[in-house]
Parts: sequence; structure tokens; C-alpha cells
Amino acid sequence: MKHLLKLLDLSREDIRQILDTADQMKYCLKHGIPHNYLQGKSLAMIFEKNSTRTRVSFEVGMYHLGGHALFLSGKESQIGRGEPVQDTSRVLSRYCNGIMIRTFAQDEVEELARLSSIPVINGLTDFCHPCQVLADLMTVREKKARLEGLKLAYVGDGNNMANSLIVGGLKCGMDVSVACPEGYEPDPRVLDFAKTVTDAKFELVRTPPEAVVDADVVVTDVWASMGQESEREIRRKAFAGYCIDSELMKLTHPGCMVQHCLPAHKGEEITEEVFEAHADEIFEEAENRLHAQKAVLYLLMRD
Ligand code: CP
Ligand code: NVA
Repeated sequence: MKHLLKLLDLSREDIRQILDTADQMKYCLKHGIPHNYLQGKSLAMIFEKNSTRTRVSFEVGMYHLGGHALFLSGKESQIGRGEPVQDTSRVLSRYCNGIMIRTFAQDEVEELARLSSIPVINGLTDFCHPCQVLADLMTVREKKARLEGLKLAYVGDGNNMANSLIVGGLKCGMDVSVACPEGYEPDPRVLDFAKTVTDAKFELVRTPPEAVVDADVVVTDVWASMGQESEREIRRKAFAGYCIDSELMKLTHPGCMVQHCLPAHKGEEITEEVFEAHADEIFEEAENRLHAQKAVLYLLMRD
């Protein structure tokens, strides 16, 4: 593994190695065991979209590992004035040891990685959110002690989260069921990948009850992602009925978890009641961003 651009690039073994390392990172932090494996190393963090969790967890993670992280806002750096990603990549490769980028187009991240001589990590694009889903898988494995054979149900927009959950879940042997309205399906590349999987089941359905029946984990995300703010009203109508509420949760397997990458729009994709009933799992998921990303940083940036 040279970069983390999308989960489609990773094998089941790569994901297992990241999750095992993430568990070790969490153990070290909780027990005060030093783990400053990236001493003297720097991570450039390019943000062309807003962030709370990704920015803080990468920055704190680099600090724990003995290195340091620099925040580069798309707007304030020369990227915002049109300096090509090809040049930015070659410049950052000479100062830093890794690049984390949050942007719109997946192609921009792939191009950055192609030209960079240092590892590139995708901190969210319109296509996928691999770091988040690694944290989600870590959280589920932590609570359920396994991933293979569990059923993950995703209800809502076929967006970056849906794409990464389908790929990550299936690669880890989970059955994945997705409910979304017509016109809001996951990316065709992801649906094509799902067709090739033989040791786990995938289904795309139209109604939330069909997706969540007997689920071990229910996941949702906002109806309008960053960059889609102008579609908020249209989407609010299109997604009516796609809310995770307590009636829907009654159809799931006993002990079913709920995951949400956050920020959540309570009253839209999830009710306040379900959110609060599963808040411990949701905030553990947020915490696990730190541990999972430290694992990725270590595996990609160690000597
Ligand atoms: N879940 C997530 O990526 O959060 P931020 O947008 O706050 O980074
Ligand atoms: N789908 C959301 C995820 C935010 C972490 C977005 O792209 O805005």
C-alpha cells in the first residue's frame, strides 16, 4: 500500500492490517505506551471543504506519532488561486512526508498521488471517504468482535459514505444492503465492484424496511453533502421516508448498532431519539477516526 486513495484499491488483508494496527494504536494511547514512530515527519493537510473531525484527528494523530501536521486551506493557499495540483504535489513532496487531501473530484486526488513521491491520503472526495469507513469498520469489529457474516444496512443518499461502506463492508465479508430513492444510487463503479463479490451479499433496495431487516449495523449520512447545499430542498423531498427512526430500528437484529459519520442533521436522516440511544457508538466511531488514521499514517509513512 503506497497511498490511501479509495478502498477499492485495498485488499481484505490490507484492511485487516490497518484495523489491527488501529487497535494497537488505541491500546498504546489508552495505556500511555509511547508510539512516536513518525518522529520528525510532517503531514500536509489540504482542505478544499470544511472539516472538524478529519482535521483534528489527523493533526492530533501526527502529534501523538511524534510528527507534525500543517493545515493548508484551499482558499488561502495558492491552490485557491489556481496553482495546478501537479505543481502543488511536486512542491509538497519536497517539504513533507505525506499529504492528506479533502476535495471534490476523486481524479484530483488520483492525479496528486500519481505525481507525488510521498504517500497521499484521501480525507474525503465526492466519490468516497475511506478514512471514515476504516473507523466505522474498526468500531463495528470492536463491538461485535467480528465483521464477517454481519449485515450492514445503509439508508439514504448513495454518496461518498455509501460508496465506501459498500466496498469496505463487502471486502470485510459483511452483507451490505442499501436503500436509496431512485436517482440517488451509489456510484456505478461501486455497483460493478459489488457484482464481483462472491463471499458476501449485496442488495440495492428502494425502501428502508427492506434494507434494515435483521441488520447488525445501520448507517446513514446527510441527504445533502458538502457542495450540494443548493439542492437541499429538492433532496429533503426526495429523501422523505428515509429517516432512521425507532419504528425502523424494531426490524433490525437485537443489539443492532447505529453509525453516523457526523455531522448529523437530526430530524432528517435520523431522529434525535435514535441518535441519542446510540450516541456512545456514534462518538466511539468519531474517536476511532484518530486511531484508524494513526494506523494509516504509520503504515504509509514509517521508514
Ligand atoms: N466525518 C467527517 O469526516 O467529519 P468532518 O467533516 O468534520 O471532518
Ligand atoms: N457525505 C458527507 C460526509 C461528511 C463527512 C459530505 O460529503 O458532506
